[in-house]
Amino acid sequence: MEQTLILIKPDAMQRGIAFEILARLERRGLKLAGLRLLQVEQPMAERHYAEHEGKPFFAGLVSYITSSPIIAAVFEGTNAVSAARQTIGSTNPTESSPGTIRGDFGLEIGRNLIHGSDSVESAEREIEIFFEGQPVIQWKKDTDKWIFE
Ligand code: RTP
Ligand code: MG
Repeated sequence: MEQTLILIKPDAMQRGIAFEILARLERRGLKLAGLRLLQVEQPMAERHYAEHEGKPFFAGLVSYITSSPIIAAVFEGTNAVSAARQTIGSTNPTESSPGTIRGDFGLEIGRNLIHGSDSVESAEREIEIFFEGQPVIQWKKDTDKWIFE
């Protein structure tokens, strides 16, 4: 099944809403396949955000993601990448619809609480970065047949 990489960013950790946010993805029907609490250091941050290197917000982005521990999670399910991005909302919280994570919890683009992979290829790349070869767990849930046809 398709997988996506989710990061609960430092602002959500500091505000104590990490599990409230993860619960929204879980409730959507996405199945948890990996979970880690970690402190991101500069090299990992630069690798993860390599596509943004050279942009004016890059330094602030690296300093934001390394500013406190984060949670990295792998979720899987039908169209996991796009389903998670839809539940997350737009990059800028004030352009995110109410009912989305960023639309309900955030105000600024540089404090937008959560990351979700933007494609299946990005998800594979990012899972390798944050799980460093640790196996994710693909497991059967009794509710699968009520979520996946
Ligand atoms: P993410 O990667 O975190 O899920 O966010 P995204 O796909 O919606 O946005 P992306 O374009 O990949 O940008 C990555 C993160 O960089 C920060 N950003 N700041 N100040 C700005 O103009 C700006 N643009 C992007 C945001 O924290 C965004 O989530
Ligand atoms: Mg992105």
